[in-house]
Amino acid sequence: MRGVTEVLGLDRDEVAEVLATATLAPSVHNTQPWRFRLEPDRIELHADPARRLPATDPEDRELRLACGAALFNLRLALRERGIRPLVTLLPGAEAPGALATIRRGGRRDLDEDTRQLLEAVPVRRSNRKPFRDVPIPVAHRYALVRAAERERSWLHVVTDRAERARLQGLVSKAHRIQIEDPLVRAELADWTGPRGADGIPPASAGIRPAPQDEWALRDFEAAERTPGKDYESDPLVVVLCSFSDGPPAELQAGQALQRVLLTATTLGLSASFMSQAIEVRSVREQLRRTLGGTIAPQTVLRIGFGSTVPPSPRRAVEDLLLEPITKP
Ligand SMILES: Cc1cc2nc3c(=O)[nH]c(=O)nc-3n(C[C@H](O)[C@H](O)[C@H](O)COP(=O)(O)O)c2cc1C
Repeated sequence: MRGVTEVLGLDRDEVAEVLATATLAPSVHNTQPWRFRLEPDRIELHADPARRLPATDPEDRELRLACGAALFNLRLALRERGIRPLVTLLPGAEAPGALATIRRGGRRDLDEDTRQLLEAVPVRRSNRKPFRDVPIPVAHRYALVRAAERERSWLHVVTDRAERARLQGLVSKAHRIQIEDPLVRAELADWTGPRGADGIPPASAGIRPAPQDEWALRDFEAAERTPGKDYESDPLVVVLCSFSDGPPAELQAGQALQRVLLTATTLGLSASFMSQAIEVRSVREQLRRTLGGTIAPQTVLRIGFGSTVPPSPRRAVEDLLLEPITKP
């Protein structure tokens, strides 16, 4: 494949596979805002500034969450090949502009948990269809909470009825603010519909939101649904949080997000996002206070037992490569 070189002791095919696994991560509007630079001793993960969403994500917070999720996939793919990945977040002068570098930190055999997460990577997808009316076992909930903890983040499970109502109110409020903002609407329209290798195609759009829905979901121009029918009864709703704000915490939370989503997949669960309350800054502050004021909310997920949905498209690895600085 054009531009792919040998790194970390892997041959070119293996490097291409590792990067392709990284790209299966989620990203807002499926912008896939990541690029990679292959240097002899490392893989560098960079943001793709051309894929920013200045109105929806003005501080690039969600861009870094997505890149963190891609980093988690990359770590898994290296483990599959016996490599213990050595990750440096925001490495500074040693890799200017990089969000992370990944080096070879020795050999490590693949354990069963990691193998299961790897198998979940191509199966995981955002599922915007209604979930079945089946409660999620408590043990599954604990597994999701532990997954976030393992990546030094926090998963807040919304169980309290009053808290759930407050969060619903915040999601609706943020949703209304966003649909009244022409720039946010334009970004949504740009990335919705058939685009080829990115964006949200009609098959991934779920079903069209309606005013009576309990949770305000984004409208990706899905097909009309039976009028008056409720969307679903009672999804599990969780807020993924980090212990501080700022780019390192967001990259960390992105890795936690992906471990949570893949763990959910291994348990037969589906998930989708309700990010509005985090994207609108003033509402995010209200949400932070609702959660006690000390942790930083990073994303909101609805989780449940879902039906099958198709994968969304991805760009080719060769289109994601930055020129190496060290010439071979
Ligand atoms: C930080 C972040 C926020 C997201 N917010 C939303 C959202 O508010 N609504 C939604 O339907 N999908 C949201 N998504 C899901 C993306 O649209 C989805 O990951 C992308 O289209 C790729 O599809 P896939 O997850 O099925 O691979 C978000 C994803 C990320 C990483």
